[in-house]
Formats: sequence, structure tokens, C-alpha cells
Amino acid sequence: MRRIIVGITGGASGVIYGVRFLEMVKKYATDSEIHLIVSNTAIGILKYEVGLDKASLSKFADRSYDENELDAPIASGSFKHDGMVIIPCSMKTLASIAHGITDNLITRAADVALKERRKLILVIRETPLNLIHIKNMELVTLAGAIVMPAAPPRFIIGRGLLMIW
Ligand SMILES: Cc1cc2nc3c(=O)[nH]c(=O)nc-3n(C[C@H](O)[C@H](O)[C@H](O)COP(=O)(O)O)c2cc1C
Repeated sequence: MRRIIVGITGGASGVIYGVRFLEMVKKYATDSEIHLIVSNTAIGILKYEVGLDKASLSKFADRSYDENELDAPIASGSFKHDGMVIIPCSMKTLASIAHGITDNLITRAADVALKERRKLILVIRETPLNLIHIKNMELVTLAGAIVMPAAPPRFIIGRGLLMIW
């Protein structure tokens, strides 16, 4: 059983990437245990962009959390998992992770993933990029995260590994 933490933040047209990711994991990576956090902003954008509410995403998850649940098990390094994906990752969440600001469950779980040297993938969605965005991407990359700009992706399930291509 693979444990994956999925964060969905408020990145406009990027929320559909988060929805598709959850659908693909459910369909192809059936041995995965998904822990889902949808940010408050993303909940509003989901409704506006794709007409979905949080409950319709929670059905893809084994556990779903509010962004304010800082006392959830996934906020702790003692919660073992195989990786965290933030898809889409807003520039605000990227900035928080880059600067160690752990004021919600998504940024806290990401910070923990970095300190525990676990895989952290940030699917950023913004264009064009300013120097602050680029510097923040540099910082998180140096700290061990993988930055993947949202571009039409293919989701590939390898042997024992979930990869986003
Ligand atoms: C309609 C709408 C579209 C947005 N699109 C983006 C976007 O594409 N990329 C981005 O980084 N932020 C975007 N934002 C801004 C973020 O939602 C905002 O910075 C928010 O505070 C992010 O919070 P979160 O990361 O906790 O979800 C958008 C906001 C709104 C309301």
C-alpha cells in the first residue's frame, strides 16, 4: 500500500489537474492510500472553474482534511508516507513552502516532507513568472522538492511507482 498526500491549492485553470490526478490514482494506482487536503481558496475555484464541490473530490480520498486541521496526523514527521503532490500549487503556497511558513495543513505537510527527506512534487500553475516565483522555485528545489510546471501531462503508473510525466 502506497500512502500519498495530495494537496490542491487555488491555481485557477490548474484545479482540473488536481481533479484528473485523483481520478487517475483511483483508477490505476489501486493500492494507494490518498490523504487529501483542498485549500479554502481551491474549494471556491473548484466550484467556479469546474462546478465541483469538495465532497466530490473527497470520494477519491481515503481521508480528507480541512486546511486548518494542523493537528492532523499528516502534520507530523511520524506519519510515514511515500510522497506528497501539490497539484496545482499556487504561487502563494510555493512561497510559503520556500520560506518555511507552515500556517496551514498543506504547507505544514510539505515542510515535513522536506525535513524528512520525502518526495515532494509541486505542480505550479502561473504564467508569466516573476523573479520572486523563480527564486522560490530555486529555494524549494535546493531543499529537495521537484517543481513541475502544469503542462498537458500524461500520468504513468510504473512498477511500484506513481509518476507524473
Ligand atoms: C479565479 C482565481 C484564479 C487564480 N489563479 C491563480 C493561478 O493561476 N496561479 C496562482 O498561483 N494563483 C492564482 N490565484 C491566486 C491564489 O488563489 C491565491 O494566491 C490564494 O491565496 C492561494 O491560496 P492557497 O495556495 O492556499 O490555495 C487565483 C485566484 C483566483 C480567485
